[in-house]
This record gives sequence, structure tokens and C-alpha cells, in this order.
Amino acid sequence: MSSKRQILVTNALPYANAALHLGHILEYTQTDVWVRFHRMRGHECYYVSADDAHGTAIMLKADEKGISAEQHIADMRAIHEADFRDFLISVDNYHSTHSEENRQLSELIYNRLNENGHIAKRDITQAFDPEKNLFLADRYIKGTCPKCKAEDQYGDNCEVCGATYAPTDLINPVSAISGATPIEKQSTHYFFKLPEFTHFLQDWTRSGTLQPEVANKLGEWLDSGLQEWDISRDAPYFGFEIPNAPGKYFYVWLDAPIGYMAAFKHLCDQQNIDFDHYWREDSPAELYHFIGKDIVNFHALFWPAMLVSANYRRPTKVCVHGFVTVNGKKMSKSRGTFINARCYLDHLSPEYLRYYYASKLSGSVEDIDLNLEDFVQKVNSDLVGKVVNIASRCAKFVADGNNGQLSASIENPQLWQQVTGAAASIAEHYENRDYSKAIREIMAQADAANEYIAAKEPWKLNKIEGKQQQVQDICSLGINLFRVLLGYLKPVLPVMADAGEAFLNDSLDWDALQQPLLEHKINAFKPLMQRIEKDKVDAMVEASKQEAAQAAAKPLQGPLADEPIADEINFDDFIKVDLRVAQIVKASHVEGAEKLLQLTLDIGGETRNVFSGIKSSYQPEALEGRLTVMVANLAPRKMRFGVSEGMVLAAGDGQGIYLLEPDSGAQPGQRVT
Ligand code: MSP
Ligand code: ZN
Repeated sequence: MSSKRQILVTNALPYANAALHLGHILEYTQTDVWVRFHRMRGHECYYVSADDAHGTAIMLKADEKGISAEQHIADMRAIHEADFRDFLISVDNYHSTHSEENRQLSELIYNRLNENGHIAKRDITQAFDPEKNLFLADRYIKGTCPKCKAEDQYGDNCEVCGATYAPTDLINPVSAISGATPIEKQSTHYFFKLPEFTHFLQDWTRSGTLQPEVANKLGEWLDSGLQEWDISRDAPYFGFEIPNAPGKYFYVWLDAPIGYMAAFKHLCDQQNIDFDHYWREDSPAELYHFIGKDIVNFHALFWPAMLVSANYRRPTKVCVHGFVTVNGKKMSKSRGTFINARCYLDHLSPEYLRYYYASKLSGSVEDIDLNLEDFVQKVNSDLVGKVVNIASRCAKFVADGNNGQLSASIENPQLWQQVTGAAASIAEHYENRDYSKAIREIMAQADAANEYIAAKEPWKLNKIEGKQQQVQDICSLGINLFRVLLGYLKPVLPVMADAGEAFLNDSLDWDALQQPLLEHKINAFKPLMQRIEKDKVDAMVEASKQEAAQAAAKPLQGPLADEPIADEINFDDFIKVDLRVAQIVKASHVEGAEKLLQLTLDIGGETRNVFSGIKSSYQPEALEGRLTVMVANLAPRKMRFGVSEGMVLAAGDGQGIYLLEPDSGAQPGQRVT
């Protein structure tokens, strides 16, 4: 074997505000297989991860739950750690970016950037929520699209018509957090002078550190000119305060990648590993970051530039993967294909998914489709039908015929050569993260082994006098081939490999696979993997649908927290609002409107024309004849499609919207009090 490498591996640190889903699991499986492979090859390979615990989203989430941010991130971390463990992710340390190590390293790195003249300071104007006293990032501002007039559009782009704009262009902008109208406010921000690293980045991104398609994408940005990067956020913010800048905090993305170092530092302190050996400028060790395609700029522009300025080594490679789709589409809560890691684990074994993902991963940034039918079919036919089948066909003959003792020679040296000879190219595929090619080769060898056994028919030979030694030799080779195949699969299927090791009475080390087990005693065979039952998959999809529906319907965490009760009014204020029972006499679509229906309302002798944003929930015909409640004295509003003479009462959660309906007995025109 080539000389021993020293490798440090990370995956992207999951945000501490949500559960892990099967998209995350793709990344952690990809990383874990790579790590296990390198450990199996005898290299020193450390794998660290952590929760990404800072930022506004996490602060708001804790608020919403009514607990402290510290408590919230501790809860999430425990959940994430359990998910990682149960998906067999072999991290050496799972840490948090809200840790003492990370605070110290973040301050140290920032101070170095500052001393090197790479920090700028200037005032900027930003949207500010005057009720919550909070600066608002784009995604926390919503309003009516300036182009198509769709309501409830977030930030700087419209989901309905696709227009992009500045959040200040939104009509009637409101804070998505408090509902208040944002004001413009100035404050001082700190910037990392990224443009000064343009030359370095032009070289670095082309030096084999990135997949070519990723380097090309970054090349476009580099050519169009880099901007200074805003690394500060104003209080209140859950994070680390910037040294000598009271009330200013590091933006979450500044200390998140430093969290890789912090997680490793924590491990080093526990296990007496030399931290500097791995991180110093001229470190001979290797550093690999595994990430998704959405966070490339942070890892391949900001992060290496920070490392240069702070005098640390750069990553050996940033390995970028695509996104998981399920059954060919984006994961969807309503279809039940937004599947949380825990929900999967409640129904199915982790190794099925690890195998399926491995069989699809190619080392490119292409998206990966989890097709649930193909998943069942492939796992059952490859693992149960091909690999385990070899052992289950042969084990009994060796156990019964020779007391579990394997033969002294290899019955078909050519076949043995062929199967063991595949090791080098399978290893190369693992190294290049081209697991799909590795799996294809392993399965081709499994086919060869099965064909050999099928052709020799040991079950027939065994009934013929004098053929018993031949049966032993055939089945011993079968077991030996199974051992090699299971060894090849060990990085992907650690639990099955464990069980196989117990059966084979051997530990599956990569290099040792080249030597057959001869005159070696094996143990009793137990089935190493069960078939996936299709109804378990169906049950998982059903459970995901229900989880999503429940999460949307949780009473107190939802609407009331989203939209707090308005300021108190007195009866005189209330009575000013003239609410009437109204009958919908006609309802129709509005040409060109995404959300509106046009309603003709009878309020007892008078009809009104009202536009209402309830199109997503109702077929117009179904509304005709129904009673509802309207605000009858609202000033008429001129809209793009006509004048709206009042409003109907409805409640919605952004997904569905529901008209209020009086009980039977109410009559059109009656006043509602
Ligand atoms: N906290 C940041 C990463 C900081 S790294 C210093 C973050 N967190 S995340 O939870 O949103 O995503 C974690 C990883 O999961 C990212 O690499 C992301 O690309 C990946 N994925 C999230 N959804 C995914 C899919 N649907 N499919 C595949 N990977 C996906 O980003
Ligand atoms: Zn629009």
C-alpha cells in the first residue's frame, strides 16, 4: 500500500433550526463512505462535524418556542447527533459552532484579518423592524410584488411571476416577523475585503481543488468582480460579539466554517492530536470539505481567502454534490416526499439508503433522484438477491459437509484473480467519490460469482457419491468471493460488514482481501439482510405527509406566534367595522390574477363586487350559494382588475385559506356583532 496519509474530513454543518431530512443524509453518507474507505485502507482519517448554531433564524425559532437560544440549540444538537449515529455516520467528534473553541478561533482569525488590513468598516442603510428592533434580511421582508401584484412575496424575488427587485420596491412591505412596516436605518458594518484575493482565488479555484464545473461557475463570478463581504450583524443576534465592536456580531457564515477547526480542536484536546500539524500554512496533511452546491461561494471563495489572510492552510479539495429529488421532483411536504431522517429510520434500515445513494453518487454536482420504486428494487436485487445469496447458497454445505472448515485450495483461480483483481479500480472509484462506478463493478463481480455457483450446481453434486470434496471446494470459493465482495462494500454497509465478519470469523481489511481464507473455520450463517417490503416505504411516505400536516396545524407555535394579537381597541372602535352576512351569488376566475377570485355578494338587497385572494383553495362554482361574512363599509379599493367593494373574512396559513361561514339560519344582510 502507498504511504499512510493524514486526512481531515468535514461535512457541511447542519443548521440548528430544523430536523435533518434525506437531502442532508445524502451528504453525510457520501462523506462517511469516503472516510470509512480511507480508514479501511489504513490511513489516518479524522471526520468532524457540528451543528451550525448561530444566526437570526435560530434566534427567532427559540423565541417562537419560548425557550432560550442555548436551550434550543442543545435540543437540536441532541436530535441531530442521534440521527447521525443511527445513519451510521462515523464522525469522530460532533461539536457546535456555539462553543468556546469556536469563539476563540473566530476571534483569533478575525484579529488576524484585521491586523492584515483586510477588514473595512462603513455605514450602510438597511430595512429595520421598528417593533422588534431588528434589522431585517431580505427574506424577512414581504409585500406585494411590484410587477404582478401578487401578495405575500418575500424578499427580493416574486415566486409568482419570477421578477427580481430590491425589497424596498415591494408594495406595502411588512416585516415577516412582526408585521410592522419596516423603516430604513443606518448602522456601521464590518466587511472582509474579498476583492484583494481575486488573483489568489483565480489560481486556487483552478488548481484541482474543485470539480471543473464548479470552478467554471466560480470563474464567472470572479470575472464579473468580487464584492466586499459583509461579516457583521447588529444586536440582537445569536452569535459571537466582534472584538472591540460592542453590539456587533459575527455573521453566522463567518464563524460557521471556522466551526470545522473548532470541532477538530475539541477532538485534538481530547485525544492529544496535534492541531497545528493539520492546520498550519505548510501542513502536509490533507483537508477535505464535503458540501452541497448551494454553499459553494462560502467554501471556495470566502473561506480560502480568510485562511490565506489568517495564515492557515487551504482545503485540499472542496467536494460538491447536487441535491436530492424524490421520484423526480423536489422533495414535497404534501406529497410526503419531504422525508425526515427520523421518519425514515422509524420505517427502514439505514443501510438500504446508504447503498442506494452510493449506487447513484458520481462525484459530479448533478442532482440525485431517490426513486422509491427503484430503491426497493435495486436494494432487494443487488444486496439480497446477489451478494447475500452467494453466502446463503454456500454456507450450509460447508457447515454440514466439513464442520464449517473452508477448503485448502481455490477451486477456480482465474475467477478468484478476476474478483480480487477488481480491487484497484474499485478503490480508485471510491477515492474519486465515483461510488456508482464502484458499485457497478462490485455487482458485476457478484454476477460472476453467482454464475459460477449456478453453473457448478453444488446442490446436485452433493447428492452424487464421491463428489463431496468438489462441493466443498466450490462452496469454499463461493464463501471467499462473498468475503471479497463484502469487503468492497464495507465502507457503504458497515453493519452488514460487521455481521459478515462474525460469520466469516475474519476482519475485512482492504489489503487482506487479496489473500483467500484457506482451511479457515467459519461460523454459522445468519441472514445478513432482509428484503425491503414495499409497504414499509408506503407507510413512511404516509407518515411524512402526516408529520407535515401536523407541523402546519400546530396551534400556538403557528399563527399566533406569526401574527401576534393586535393592539387593544374599545367597543366604539369595533362597532365602526360593519360586518354583514353575505351570500355568494357568483364566483369566477380573474383573467391574469394568480391568487384572486371575483365574487358577487348579496347583502340583502344590495350586491357588491369583491376580489378575494382565495383562489388556491376554492373552485369558484363550489362557492356559489354559500354564506360568508364581509366588511361592508370598507372604502372601495381600485385594483388592477377592477374596484373591490369590501372584503370577505377568511383565515389562511400561506398554504390554504378558508372562508368564514355563518351557521345556517343567518340571512344575507344581517349585521354581525
Ligand atoms: N449551515 C450551513 C452550512 C455551514 S458549513 C460551514 C447549511 N446548513 S443546511 O442544514 O442548510 O445544509 C447542510 C448541508 O446539507 C449543505 O451542504 C446542503 O447543501 C445539504 N443539503 C440540504 N438540502 C439538501 C438536499 N435536498 N439534497 C442534498 N443536499 C442538501 O447550509
Ligand atoms: Zn410578481
